[in-house]
Amino acid sequence: MQNDRSFRPRIPPFDLVLFGGTGDLSLRKVLPAMLRRDIDGQLDPATRILACSLDHHDAVAYRALVGAALEGVRDEVCATTEQWDRFLARLSHDHVDATAPDGARGFAEALHAHPDRVRVFYLATSPSLYGTISQALAQLGLVTPDSRVVLEKPLGRDLPTSKAIHDAVAAVFHEDQVYRMDHYLGKETVQNLMALRFANALFEPMWNATYVDHVQITVAESLGIGHRAAYYDRFGAVRDMLQNHLLQLVCLLAMEPPGVFDAASVRAKKLEVLRALRPKGPDDVLRDCVFGQYGPGAIGGDRVAGYLDEPGVADESHTETFVAARVFVDTWRWAGVPFYLRTGKRLEHRASEIVVRFKAVPHVIFPDQAHQVVANQLVLRLQPLEGIKLVLMTKTPGPGGIRLRPAALNLGYAETFKTPLPDAYERLLLDTAKGNQTLFMGRDEVEAAWSWVDPILQAWEGSDRPPIRYAAGTWGPSAAYGLIERDGRSWVEPGETFG
Ligand code: BG6
Repeated sequence: MQNDRSFRPRIPPFDLVLFGGTGDLSLRKVLPAMLRRDIDGQLDPATRILACSLDHHDAVAYRALVGAALEGVRDEVCATTEQWDRFLARLSHDHVDATAPDGARGFAEALHAHPDRVRVFYLATSPSLYGTISQALAQLGLVTPDSRVVLEKPLGRDLPTSKAIHDAVAAVFHEDQVYRMDHYLGKETVQNLMALRFANALFEPMWNATYVDHVQITVAESLGIGHRAAYYDRFGAVRDMLQNHLLQLVCLLAMEPPGVFDAASVRAKKLEVLRALRPKGPDDVLRDCVFGQYGPGAIGGDRVAGYLDEPGVADESHTETFVAARVFVDTWRWAGVPFYLRTGKRLEHRASEIVVRFKAVPHVIFPDQAHQVVANQLVLRLQPLEGIKLVLMTKTPGPGGIRLRPAALNLGYAETFKTPLPDAYERLLLDTAKGNQTLFMGRDEVEAAWSWVDPILQAWEGSDRPPIRYAAGTWGPSAAYGLIERDGRSWVEPGETFG
């Protein structure tokens, strides 16, 4: 099905202007995504990638840099050297200092040569530059009605700093030109959550407090912070993951059905969820949240350092690398249904799963089997080995009467669709060129998320307590188990249900 070209139409020519073009994000995510879409035939031959950075590369040197950085992807996706050369030919590079835009000639002239083309200004830079770059683009007369700007997180450290970034960008770009990236929304399985909910009659009648006991979301990473201490130590897991990716997942799980799958409708429904998150006062934070930090340990048999020993981390840093929270969405649909969220670095393995646990049957008609009956659960595996699993009670085959045991209906995407799933950036980048904001966050969503998260951060950071230490390679602090177990429930460890 995925090989049907009608699902991958060629996009009219556009110019991707990549600020921070020599940086990690560009080389690891943006350019590989463009290469893959190119190989799949979705980029028009005239589409260009105009990289800008403070470096002084000409096009030749830049192409060599990209060649070295993308070697692995190139070998994987390019069948011929012509394909690779065609991609390289799209690339140019200019030294651009956004604080002195007058010197930025080359890329500006290239853009002026095609005034009617869609322009995607991708800001793969520090957010502190978003306003400056936007102003520079305006000053150079480069912002046309068909221009879009893509912003990466972190969109602030709290509500006021987030507003300041948005205000600076809004002075140049209209809201319908601003694409706020949350790459989780571009993941195939995350979009499939919407297909599951809204293209099947089966689930929606049960998708509420009458039938759902609770929801769990686990986003576990086995990696540590790598070389990102300068960023991570100032942000931590709440700002890095909870405020954005996890809350976006809550939105998609909890939102009311939109009338149609378009940006305005989907964003409005997600915003309702964010505004319905039950606020947490300081006592709630202490009761309902667990903050952890990894210590030394072992992952896959290899010894790894603790967070405090990572290069660049402040001595005695209290930055949390793990957070678990019990959250309520105060709407009619979700009244009293807890959403248990957890995310952390250096956990046992990389796995992200959503578990929707339904309520138990009201009465068991097999008295001697009552203890065997477990409630149905729907598991959505976001990564790796993407799939959906529905756990049902069944009869164990055989003549010995009714003996119950859980078994699963299992939909693995790889086996079912026999095609590799595209990276989130591939989908989202092309959406910016097409002008489709459905999978991007609106300003009011980002601000509503900060409004909910800020009091949590204030209570946590104000408490001056150290985070609870957990050994790398485990599933986090034992207090995270206490958080859910005191409600008479337990975490479903990722992979447990997928075997
Ligand atoms: C990013 C965070 O937004 O998401 C990283 O800044 C994190 O800290 C990453 O590692 C996780 O993304 P994924 O797609 O690997 O789950």
